[in-house]
Amino acid sequence: MFRIGMLTSGGDCQALNAAMRGVVKGLAANVKDLEVYGFFNGYKGLIYGDYRLLTNQDFSGILTRGGTILGSSRQPFKLMREPDENGLDKVEAMKSNYYKLNLQCLVILGGNGTQKTANLLREEGLNIIHLPKTIDNDIYGTDFTFGFQSAIDIACNTIDCIHTTASSHSRVFIVEVMGHKVGWLTLYAGVASGADIILLPEIPYDIKKVIKAINRRAEEGKGFTILAVAEGAISKEDAKLSKKEYKKKLETSKFPSVSYEIADRIQKETGIEARVTVPGHMQRGGSPDPYDRVLCTRLGSAAAQAIMDGDYGNMIAMVDGKTKRVPLEKVAGKLKMVEPDCQMIQEAKRIGISFGD
Ligand code: F6P
Repeated sequence: MFRIGMLTSGGDCQALNAAMRGVVKGLAANVKDLEVYGFFNGYKGLIYGDYRLLTNQDFSGILTRGGTILGSSRQPFKLMREPDENGLDKVEAMKSNYYKLNLQCLVILGGNGTQKTANLLREEGLNIIHLPKTIDNDIYGTDFTFGFQSAIDIACNTIDCIHTTASSHSRVFIVEVMGHKVGWLTLYAGVASGADIILLPEIPYDIKKVIKAINRRAEEGKGFTILAVAEGAISKEDAKLSKKEYKKKLETSKFPSVSYEIADRIQKETGIEARVTVPGHMQRGGSPDPYDRVLCTRLGSAAAQAIMDGDYGNMIAMVDGKTKRVPLEKVAGKLKMVEPDCQMIQEAKRIGISFGD
């Protein structure tokens, strides 16, 4: 009997199902009497014993299906060591369910927070394999996370659509792109769709420079301007505030997000009509693109091999085009951010894209 558990945790994304399928197909073809237990809704299922024995049928036809067949939830890492409202010790409960089922290992698909809890469970003695999921691409130790490329497609399509209407109406358009505290998705979607200005959390912007770039385009006869703005973009002034002060500023702001504040300022100072479009969770939805399908099939298959080798405690990463086992203890808790002077930013600046700095 070869028995494993599996769960998907944190914000969902495309290709979670593709990755689970890769793991299960890789094992099913090579081990006898495989049993796969799926825990529902992330760590919640592991804590409260909400699981089911999955069948081959569950993994059939899911390569192209978005979301996750197991469901997901956010269980903040910082609360993992705290008892729940009924006094239940969550870590002990997770261990107990793992041992009760006599699992050989637990495959955990998730982003940064999920990875920290995966590492905690590893420290507690559980055999863990982590697969790096997130549209934000902010997991340290892997070149790309799954979901990222599919989300670029969606953000890019949005900006493409906005481009034509912005041009017809000579408007400034801000497309607010997801990414939490990092700018990978905005950078790639912005470059891919020919955005004129790209604002990232890693490069605090000077609103005067943003306005100057828009005015320059107007002087050149370009009546419209497209800005790709990361949801976590921050001005140079705000970057000087403490975390607490900035949080308070956002909470008390009359604007729903930083994009609207930027649009307001642009409209007032340039006299050009400025609009905001927020594709939001669309960026996490729908089918995985072919790149993510391939990435997840490879990561899943590599995870299956790691499991058969009994080599646990790793994230299965993609580094320089090759799958790689990266020890969780080396990466958990680290965030991969865009480096402000990296080659891609320099190249983007060379062709005239402004980062507002
Ligand atoms: O981590 C993925 C992500 O989509 C981020 O880009 C975004 O900030 C966050 O999740 C949104 O989370 P929720 O779905 O909980 O609102």
